[in-house]
Amino acid sequence: MKILVIGSGGREHALVSALGKTGNNIIYATPGNPGIFELATEANINSAHFDEVAVFCKTYGVDMVVIGPEQPLADGISDYLQKKGIAVFGPSEMAARLESSKAFAKAFMVRHGIPTAKYKEFYKSNVDEADRFIDALPTPIVLKADGLAAGKGVIIAETHTEAHDSLHEMFNGQFSTAGDTIVIEEFLEGEEASVFVVCDGMDFVVLPAAQDHKRIFDGDKGPNTGGMGAYSPAPIVSPSMRDKIVNKIIRPTLKGMKDENMPFVGCLFVGLMIKDGEPKVIEFNVRFGDPETEAVLTLLDGDFSQLLYSAAKGKINKSAVSVIRDTYACCVILASNGYPGTYNKGYEISGIGEAYAHGGEIFQAGTKFFNGTIVTSGGRVLGVTGRGKTLQSAIDKAYECADLIKFEGKYNRTDIGKKGLNLKETERK
Ligand code: AMP
Ligand code: GLY
Repeated sequence: MKILVIGSGGREHALVSALGKTGNNIIYATPGNPGIFELATEANINSAHFDEVAVFCKTYGVDMVVIGPEQPLADGISDYLQKKGIAVFGPSEMAARLESSKAFAKAFMVRHGIPTAKYKEFYKSNVDEADRFIDALPTPIVLKADGLAAGKGVIIAETHTEAHDSLHEMFNGQFSTAGDTIVIEEFLEGEEASVFVVCDGMDFVVLPAAQDHKRIFDGDKGPNTGGMGAYSPAPIVSPSMRDKIVNKIIRPTLKGMKDENMPFVGCLFVGLMIKDGEPKVIEFNVRFGDPETEAVLTLLDGDFSQLLYSAAKGKINKSAVSVIRDTYACCVILASNGYPGTYNKGYEISGIGEAYAHGGEIFQAGTKFFNGTIVTSGGRVLGVTGRGKTLQSAIDKAYECADLIKFEGKYNRTDIGKKGLNLKETERK
């Protein structure tokens, strides 16, 4: 099969790696990165120009396009390519609103009885009402810009004053037009988990649950980032919790989307908060998550390309992949010192080969070629994944491999996966 992957991060490197595992697949990628181009051929096109993508697919006989990030999906790439007769793994523009409009997603969940935080949506025109709503809520208070804001559109205000200030900043254009509508919701306590569901419009396959680490410092301190590491399977999602998530969230979501004439085809990313044995949806995303993908996909055996292709064609092959038994994966992100604020780049990276030889899988994100070497070019530089028979051994392998990789200003958290180790037996119900 010939597959074109769109995107350039660690998630796409992991996707390309999983799709390429089946011997006879030919993979193209754009914009890609040096790690991706060790496994895939560069497609010299601008993926924001959908017509160029379609022409490339026709010229090279591409069987399926796999979309990594949310923006092209929200912009309608899936609809455009499908009209040209090209199979796409990724939802339509309408279905992508589960991520691209938080107000849409919340109203959808209420319509279909899917458990989520209580909320209300507000527009610039009713700012006074929004201020009064904030005054009536206990703190912390969660404010969300409706539209896509590169993962930065969620504010957790600790005080009422902070909530009012954030509201006014958002309405004054802090997130551009993404903040013209704002969702204000109750703060949920509990433990977070990410569940990826590969969907064909109605039927689905649930992949092993993962846990992300969004804050920059150990102990979940400091500002939010794109994600500093992940591990899978996350013990918080026990078999009985998984069943609850399937019955209370995944089935009603897919049925609701189909009934409302926007069947969901692609990866539904269910971001959950779990408390007292009950899951609630914090957010939906309409694509694989980063860095969870760099852990989750290393746990799959079989033909991942068949899983995505059969879903894209509307009849998912549920036995295309299996989950490797009794195995854990842990991905540690190596970042540039200063991230998510300002940082320097252009530093040579060494040790990737050694880390690989030691049994790690190295996924490149913020890297580029320069004068024949690979140098840093972004905040999150590499994802280093280790696997093992226990969560502890997967964590150890990831950190041993991460230590073999060197570049100036390298920074990583030292506690990825710890939450999974610390989970009390009573919480694993
Ligand atoms: P998002 O950008 O929607 O992924 O939200 C970023 C992070 O904000 C989530 O991963 C949660 O940690 C946190 N968050 C979002 N909504 C809530 C909520 N209602 N209660 C508690 N935490 C939340
Ligand atoms: N790991 C969170 C995300 O991809 O949005």
